[in-house]
Amino acid sequence: MLKKLFIIALVWWCVLGVLAVEEKEKEEELESSTSVVPRIFIQECFVNLHAGQNCALHPDLNYDLICDMWSYCSEGRCEDTLEIGSTCQQNVTKCNPNSYCSSDSICVPHKSVLLNGNCQVDRDCIGNNTICSSGKCVLKDNICVVDLDCQAGYYCKFTNIDIKKNGTCAPKHLDGACVSSSECSYPKICGYENNDSENKICMEKLVKNRGSKCADPYECEIDHFCRNGTCATVQKAKTTCKSSCDCDEKDYCSYDMVLNKQVCKNWEQIWLNRMCTFVQKDLTECAHKNSCPYENQPEIKSNDCILDKCDTEYKRYTDQCTPYQKLFNSANNLGLPTFLVLVLSIVSIILL
Ligand SMILES: *[C@@H]1O[C@H](CO)[C@@H](O)[C@H](O)[C@H]1NC(C)=O
Ligand SMILES: *[C@@H]1O[C@H](CO)[C@@H](O)[C@H](O)[C@H]1NC(C)=O
Ligand SMILES: *[C@@H]1O[C@H](CO)[C@@H](O)[C@H](O)[C@H]1NC(C)=O
Ligand SMILES: *[C@@H]1O[C@H](CO)[C@@H](O)[C@H](O)[C@H]1NC(C)=O
Ligand SMILES: *[C@@H]1O[C@H](CO)[C@@H](O)[C@H](O)[C@H]1NC(C)=O
Repeated sequence: MLKKLFIIALVWWCVLGVLAVEEKEKEEELESSTSVVPRIFIQECFVNLHAGQNCALHPDLNYDLICDMWSYCSEGRCEDTLEIGSTCQQNVTKCNPNSYCSSDSICVPHKSVLLNGNCQVDRDCIGNNTICSSGKCVLKDNICVVDLDCQAGYYCKFTNIDIKKNGTCAPKHLDGACVSSSECSYPKICGYENNDSENKICMEKLVKNRGSKCADPYECEIDHFCRNGTCATVQKAKTTCKSSCDCDEKDYCSYDMVLNKQVCKNWEQIWLNRMCTFVQKDLTECAHKNSCPYENQPEIKSNDCILDKCDTEYKRYTDQCTPYQKLFNSANNLGLPTFLVLVLSIVSIILL
């Protein structure tokens, strides 16, 4: 116990040290950034913001400021999205993720009602082949096309994985041969039995070292990812940016808590970094404990059960696994969100 506390204190001290050094580097950076060469933008140029940040566009800004999925821009500030049941105004306010502003101007759930849950219209029901029949979400013709068409603990099994049609819901399993990770029960994924094998089995996450044969994003150990069938190291993000247009196409400009600056990040750097992996693990654990259906992959959609039982975990997950801008406007740099992020990162370093 004491040893753990000591490690926490040590890591804490190091992080604070890093922040102090970065502060100095930032000043130097600001000086060099005045010589920006004008360029033609063909990409959509933007940076995501969190609630509370300034989203007012001004003339010398050549990119968009987009409020994240939990907020919307109102009078120059990203405001928190509205809870289900609140009064809303179409095109003016925004409802929580997985809900929308109905014609009666009330935030109502969108595609988040699970099988057998109460619904009014088809679009209330989660999944791609579910309908609202006599006020309940049901599977149409007993055919599934995505895993979320099935109840918790089940996946959509296809006779031919390449033609994802006419699937049937089948129970997930913890061991044995598999085709895709969606059929493995928590906390396993579907990966290659060994380097020389073509056989895939349900196995632990984050176990294979660099150079090993892999199929699932979580098959390789932490800080690694599955590139073209082989475990490779996730490169550290380095390129400083102001918006996505300073980055390669498909990459995002995102604040990096450890570097304390905005850098270009690709898919792996966003979804497979320690923090995101850690909060994703928390979320899937919560979903599993509460029998909420979820996709066994980095990107998880929310649903009624997750909103109800794992709201905190889901919010933390979308916060950490979504690229966003540094909080500029707070007077003290170590505001509450930053503090929470630091604590989380320390916990993740210790646990992973
Ligand atoms: C909201 O915006 C959409 C698309 O821009 C438009 O079709 C719709 O009529 C608008 N609704 C209201 C209530 O203004
Ligand atoms: C399921 O629906 C979503 C959005 O409604 C769509 O993006 C996705 O491609 C669909 N998937 C399949 C397998 O039909
Ligand atoms: C799926 O089922 C429908 C009707 O049951 C059938 O017409 C279609 O050929 C089937 N598709 C595949 C790929 O099996
Ligand atoms: C697979 O091969 C790589 C490269 O030769 C090696 O480093 C790794 O340990 C092997 N992995 C397993 C699980 O045997
Ligand atoms: C992926 O691997 C295949 C075969 O090993 C190779 O032909 C291809 O160029 C590789 N692609 C990338 C993007 O590295």
